[in-house]
Amino acid sequence: MDRFEFTVSLHEYKRVSSLVLEYARIHKRSTYIGAGVVAFLVAYKFSLRKRWFAWLFNVSTREKFEKYDDMKREFFKPLSEMASHDPGLREENSIKILEVGVGSGTNFEFFPEGCHLVAVDPNPFFGQYYDKNRSKFPNIKSTEIIVAKGEDMDAVKSDSVDAVVMTLVLCSVSDVHQIVRQVRRVLAPGGKFYFIEHVKEWDTKNHWFEGAFSSS
Ligand SMILES: C[S@@+](CC[C@H](N)C(=O)[O-])C[C@H]1O[C@@H](n2cnc3c(N)ncnc32)[C@H](O)[C@@H]1O
Repeated sequence: MDRFEFTVSLHEYKRVSSLVLEYARIHKRSTYIGAGVVAFLVAYKFSLRKRWFAWLFNVSTREKFEKYDDMKREFFKPLSEMASHDPGLREENSIKILEVGVGSGTNFEFFPEGCHLVAVDPNPFFGQYYDKNRSKFPNIKSTEIIVAKGEDMDAVKSDSVDAVVMTLVLCSVSDVHQIVRQVRRVLAPGGKFYFIEHVKEWDTKNHWFEGAFSSS
């Protein structure tokens, strides 16, 4: 599978919106405005927020920030020296990487030549940006894209990957313990977990703002 599937959240959004509008039709006409507001809020919760976040993140990462790129280059360098747990991949001099919360794929340029990539992300609206970015890196073999939260990535087999990469994701994860348990499960013995994290805004007054625009 080489594209994100859009069905889940769009289906949810359409279903809830039509239920609300149906309710408004049965009851007074004046409830239309209220129903419209509710429908918008529900749509925002289920779909628009994710769509908006994917667009905003893609726009904001288009410009390169060299110091951050240099840091990532250094950070991911050991990936090129890893030997895979899988004899087939070892023969190809390749490894299997799982990237959780892959977004638009800003880490591709730091991955080793010919690596096999499995990507997990719960936001299907990153799909178009992911595809566009991935086409610039034909050296990466993308075998699978799974639309799921890292906490629920049961589709990834146990002991199956050499490295897990997760950058700027844990800040929006609701159950950090569960996602780390999943990372341990999927890593083959001797595998490595690479993560980069940033923290929540220190000023708690701004937390509502972060919540409104965060990815999940
Ligand atoms: C700030 S973006 C970072 C994207 C990418 N890792 C990067 O560094 O450019 C956060 C990403 O984490 C994803 N995400 C949010 N909650 C997640 C979860 N529970 N499990 C996996 N990914 C999640 C979002 O959909 C989004 O793609």
